[in-house]
Parts: sequence; structure tokens; C-alpha cells
Amino acid sequence: MKFFVDTANLKEIEEAHSLGILDGVTTNPSLMAKEGITGKANIIKHYKDICDIVSGDVSAEVISTDFGGIVSEGEELAKIDDKIVVKVPMISEGIKAIKYFSQNSIKTNCTLIFSAGQALLAAKAGATYVSPFIGRIDDISSNGLQLISEIRLIFDNYNYKTEILSASIRGPMHIIDCAKIGSDVVTTPLKSIKSLLNHPLTDIGLKKFLDDYNKGNK
Ligand code: G3P
Repeated sequence: MKFFVDTANLKEIEEAHSLGILDGVTTNPSLMAKEGITGKANIIKHYKDICDIVSGDVSAEVISTDFGGIVSEGEELAKIDDKIVVKVPMISEGIKAIKYFSQNSIKTNCTLIFSAGQALLAAKAGATYVSPFIGRIDDISSNGLQLISEIRLIFDNYNYKTEILSASIRGPMHIIDCAKIGSDVVTTPLKSIKSLLNHPLTDIGLKKFLDDYNKGNK
């Protein structure tokens, strides 16, 4: 399973990259705004800075909601770097644009997926990734992981190459559960990845190994 970080924070991206397990980055307009990145030129420069850190795919989201706008914005974003994946919202104009991009060798991430039907349409249009937002589904007392299972089944039934990019991850157990189901990718805040490192028995065991070594090497 691939690990992406869901952030526009360069320090966090650098830290995740330095762990050696980072496969890519996703961003969205809210995450860019959180870092104070505004204005087209700054946003494009920021995407380039992210691409210079990581070796995998970097999702850059369009703001347009009409076919022509999505296509011209996406083509401009795709020119920034070969790593750029154009993130397109799950709307009818978005589906048309994903079809266009797939016919023009531009990678896409269909975002704001909340149902299996939406994921199926995006896969049929040729999306590189679909992003089901599992945390936001859980937030409304529904079952985000169930959606990942349904999409996995559908994509496997028809051998769709579109990758399931589980998004809106709320903690380390979401990551484990996505891996059990067979999600291709998870995109998550760095803190959830770091939580996977921890186990009290590891700390106790390491302390004992070091104490025993020090006793014998006084
Ligand atoms: O980037 C899309 C998604 O991961 C957003 O997550 O936490 O805002 O629901 P969240």
C-alpha cells in the first residue's frame, strides 16, 4: 500500500520523505489556505517546491467547476512537473474533464467521492485515482471503510486500473483497516503515520536490551 501525506506543509512533507516510506502528497485548497499560500503564482511555486521534495505523485486541485476551466487549469498544473496529478471534483463537468485528461496522458485524482457509484463513474472515465473521504463519512455516523470495501470489490470485478486513494484519514486504525481491505493508497496527516511506529512493548524491550548491554560493558 502506498503512503501519501495529506498536507501542503513543506516541513511535514520533508519529515515524511526523510522517513523513507513516502510515496506521494495530496493537497487541496483548504490545506493550501492553511499554509497561507494564496494567489496563482504562489500556489504554482508551492506545488513546484513540493515536487522538488518528493519522488512520487503530487495531487494539485483545480478550482474551476466547468469543463473548459477544469481542462485549462489542469493542463497548466500538469506543466509544473511530471509528478503532478490533477485533482478534479466529482461533478459531471469533472467526469468529462477526467475523460479528456485520460486521453491526453494527464494523471487525475477524482476527489470528493462519497459513494461507490461515484467511484465507478470516475474509473470508467479513466481516473488514475479516486479519493473516497472515509473520515467525513464516519463523521456523519456512516461507515467510511464499508465504502472502501465496496469500491475494492467493484474495481476488482472489472479489473479497473484506477487506484483507490483512501482520504480523510482520522487516525492510525483507519490506515490499518484500509490496508486490510486492499486500498491502494492512503493519504493521511503525518501524525497518523508516526502513530504506527509506537508500541509500549517496543519501548520496554529496547530499554531492557540497552540496559543489559550497558551492564555487560561497564
Ligand atoms: O485531501 C482530502 C481529504 O483527505 C480531506 O480530509 O480531514 O479534511 O476530511 P479531511
